[in-house]
Amino acid sequence: MSLPPHDDLEINVVTGAFSYTGKYIAQRLLSMGKSVTTLTNHPQRPDPVLNSIQIHRYNFQDTHQLEESLRGATTLYNTYWLRFARGLSTFELAVENTETLIQAARAAGVRRMVHVSITNPSPDSELPYFRGKALVEQAIIGSGMEYAIIRPTLVFGAEDILLNNIAWFLRRFPIFPISGSGDYLVQPVYVEDLAELAVAAGQELLSPGNIGKVIDAAGPEKFTYRDFVSLVAQKVQSRAKIVHVPPAVLLGLATMMNLLVRDMVLTKDEIKGLMAGLLVSRDPPTCQTPLSRWLDQNRNLLGRRYASEIKRHYL
Ligand SMILES: NC(=O)c1ccc[n+]([C@@H]2O[C@H](COP(=O)([O-])OP(=O)(O)OC[C@H]3O[C@@H](n4cnc5c(N)ncnc54)[C@H](OP(=O)(O)O)[C@@H]3O)[C@@H](O)[C@H]2O)c1
Repeated sequence: MSLPPHDDLEINVVTGAFSYTGKYIAQRLLSMGKSVTTLTNHPQRPDPVLNSIQIHRYNFQDTHQLEESLRGATTLYNTYWLRFARGLSTFELAVENTETLIQAARAAGVRRMVHVSITNPSPDSELPYFRGKALVEQAIIGSGMEYAIIRPTLVFGAEDILLNNIAWFLRRFPIFPISGSGDYLVQPVYVEDLAELAVAAGQELLSPGNIGKVIDAAGPEKFTYRDFVSLVAQKVQSRAKIVHVPPAVLLGLATMMNLLVRDMVLTKDEIKGLMAGLLVSRDPPTCQTPLSRWLDQNRNLLGRRYASEIKRHYL
């Protein structure tokens, strides 16, 4: 009896396949004829495109179950993380949970991991998001698994939250406040390009000798934040006036908006991260889709509805 082709033997676990980045990674793997399993907090979330995949809960508290959900996997693609701390969901817990996931993967015999991180993580960062990401990267590098760490800048795409909500505010309000001068840079990356880079890195890991790499996922255009907001405003035909305010004033306005939309519009740490220019790569761009072109194609849909982080992840 002949063995099935290699692809049939390849099982990929993609965390968050019903959410944002993980969905694009899972779709890409499925379109290549590969088998996909997901770990999620939302096993009931409907997604017709992904109806063929196996679904498990994250099960961070039950390491035996977690191990079983990873057993037999060729590659673990990990997107799990928090945007902000809320209640018991802290960045310390997110680091702990990711370390549990890495240990469970090791114990289940998974040899390869593609991990979605962030540009410019640092164990010395004052920002728990960037500090926690650095700690997780260290855990992966020290895990003994073959790894590819993909560090995206600011991700944009159809299910995006930040860019979509900037457009939503620009469509509805006469002014749009930005923090300080707005001279700090952003370098948006398209979610499909990020998924392509992640899957290509996962495939490379299957070849001997490709043990570990760390690569930024960054698009071809860099903007000052002011120009980024102006570009979105122009594309969605907003007449909102862009005004410059101190970070504390922006935070105060965002806090008021939180009540209106029942969400966390923007956090103090996100303002600091943006102003520190952390969503930019120091390396040549690795992804090709320009935000400006994508905006031309998606301007009519962008920002029509508010996208709630709390609704997506906490309710
Ligand atoms: N979005 C960006 O602009 C951006 C930029 C740079 C780096 N990244 C990184 O890219 C990765 C994916 O980001 P994403 O925006 O695409 O994330 P996402 O799809 O919204 O979430 C990724 C995974 O994390 C889980 N998750 C998210 N928030 C959670 C919470 N509060 N409590 C428990 N679980 C939570 C999700 O659970 P469910 O499966 O239940 O939904 C999902 O499995 C993350 O590691 C992020 O740090 C994102």
